[in-house]
Amino acid sequence: MITKKMEKALNEQINKEFYSAYLYLAMSAYCNKLNMPGAEHWFRMQYDEEVIHMTKMFDYVMQHGGDAHLMQIDEPPREFGSVPSAFEASLAHEQFVTKSINELLDVAVEERDHATQVFLQWFITEQVEEEANVQEIVQRLKLAGDNGGALIMLDDKLAQRLPPAPPVAK
Ligand code: FEO
Repeated sequence: MITKKMEKALNEQINKEFYSAYLYLAMSAYCNKLNMPGAEHWFRMQYDEEVIHMTKMFDYVMQHGGDAHLMQIDEPPREFGSVPSAFEASLAHEQFVTKSINELLDVAVEERDHATQVFLQWFITEQVEEEANVQEIVQRLKLAGDNGGALIMLDDKLAQRLPPAPPVAK
């Protein structure tokens, strides 16, 4: 059974995961407008990832005697300046989410909630991967600069991103 403080912190993180999904869907739409189908696909796959994160946490709250409380989701931006700027915004967002997950783990430690500490380990590992993936794309886009051929090759590579693995059955 999770405490009320833990429940509140998890519900706030559910909202952040929903916002992440919204943000990546908006980035996907932005890339569609710029005719960058690979980047559009990459952000769409990232949207799917965020829905999995949100659902995983939503289910956890309910399975541990808490109330899953769905809150209003902020509207994401519609303009990102350029495809490289969208990926830079994505990296900044993932760094924000990592900080948020770390703070959530701090609450679980304060509450002496061992089950939630174990649960959150998955998210800690996931954030390391998420940041590393986006960081690599940001660096490659920087190397490509204004080279149209290199950008198209990178876009083709982004188009190869596979869908996320479905969550493990409850
Ligand atoms: Fe759910 Fe991208 O962190």
